[in-house]
Amino acid sequence: MRNVRRNPFKPTAGHTPPLLIGRDDDVDDFVEGLDNGPGAPSRLMRVTGARGVGKTVLLSEFASIAQERGWEVIRESASKGLAARLVTRLHPQGDKGSYGFTISPSFNLAGVAGGSLGEFHYDSPQQMPLTLSDALRCRLDALEKKDAGLLIEIDEAQAADRDDMIAISNAAQEMNTESRDYAFVFAGLPSMSSKWLNDEATTFMRRADPHVLDDVPLDDVADAFEDTFRASGMVLAGDALHMAAEATYGYPFMIQLVGYHIWRTAMREHPDSSEVTVSDAERGIAKALARLGDTVHGPELDSLSPVDKTYLLAMAQDDGPSSTSEIAERMGKGLSYAGTYRTRLLEAQVIEECGYGKVDFAIPYLREYLREHAAFVRMSADASD
Ligand SMILES: Nc1ncnc2c1ncn2[C@@H]1O[C@H](COP(=O)(O)OP(=O)(O)OP(=O)(O)O)[C@@H](O)[C@H]1O
Ligand SMILES: [Mg+2]
Repeated sequence: MRNVRRNPFKPTAGHTPPLLIGRDDDVDDFVEGLDNGPGAPSRLMRVTGARGVGKTVLLSEFASIAQERGWEVIRESASKGLAARLVTRLHPQGDKGSYGFTISPSFNLAGVAGGSLGEFHYDSPQQMPLTLSDALRCRLDALEKKDAGLLIEIDEAQAADRDDMIAISNAAQEMNTESRDYAFVFAGLPSMSSKWLNDEATTFMRRADPHVLDDVPLDDVADAFEDTFRASGMVLAGDALHMAAEATYGYPFMIQLVGYHIWRTAMREHPDSSEVTVSDAERGIAKALARLGDTVHGPELDSLSPVDKTYLLAMAQDDGPSSTSEIAERMGKGLSYAGTYRTRLLEAQVIEECGYGKVDFAIPYLREYLREHAAFVRMSADASD
């Protein structure tokens, strides 16, 4: 009888997977940025990609690389009050620093609209850039004395407030001018790029090294499955391995879901035999699919507008790529009306272009999910019309 073992797969947002598949180039670029010193292009990076593609875990990987080099890492999510939160975090816990004001560590900045840092108040967001620059400069002075740098990572950057972005961008610009030893990485949904890149105030984002995360190659998925199962004392090979890898479509979240549920099924069905069977694979994949619907498809559709959903429902009638003119016809609308929604869905990476005048789903199994839940999705699209 084997010992009780822990499932190695991590089908949970933000959890570092057993193997980070297909991100070597991104990691290499990041490392090169650190090696090449201030001013290297990948010292300022923007990482975009669809939900569940692995942005947050890539940030974790960058963070550990930086920490291994003795760097300090500050990670934040871009909710309201971001710039103010950064200032508090840059400042050593609640002591009186060179700014001449006190920050109480217990002071909660979330939701403060204009800006207030403990005893320090600023009347307008325009004052913030200075404050953030000062805070950065002060921290970097201390770190650089130890020959260390500072990495700041902002996740969910698509949700950042414009004022916060302006503050960060101005501060970063000043640090660049002074050639300070720091790096900034922004990660977010694809809408982050369209939101910030067209904004005059954040031209610095345009200079950020773009890293668009995509699905990973199936061969790499198969290798990773084989290794991860083997490391936990199981054998996934042959047809079962092939089925497992194919079922993921290379979508990182699905890789974890499929791995997790196949591992679990095999463990439950035959705890004494290490060989994963085709039937284990089939049952694991079915479970993974159900979870994908609940955790990815449902929330993704919830975040879309009613007409976006109507567009997707029109696409789901096809078995493969859809013709954009046919979709417009199915929607009972003109080409330019449908084109607006096509662009929105492309930007959100829910669909992708697939040859001239054709689009296809970019999220695996979304077509199947839409078909299965068509009545419900249609209802929610109609209800908000
Ligand atoms: N390169 C990868 N190889 C294998 N698994 C991965 C990889 N990247 C991410 N995963 C797994 O995929 C899931 C989603 O990862 P993560 O939360 O980083 O995605 P995300 O892009 O930040 O999603 P969201 O937009 O919802 O925040 C996690 O379970 C994670 O372990
Ligand atoms: Mg994330």
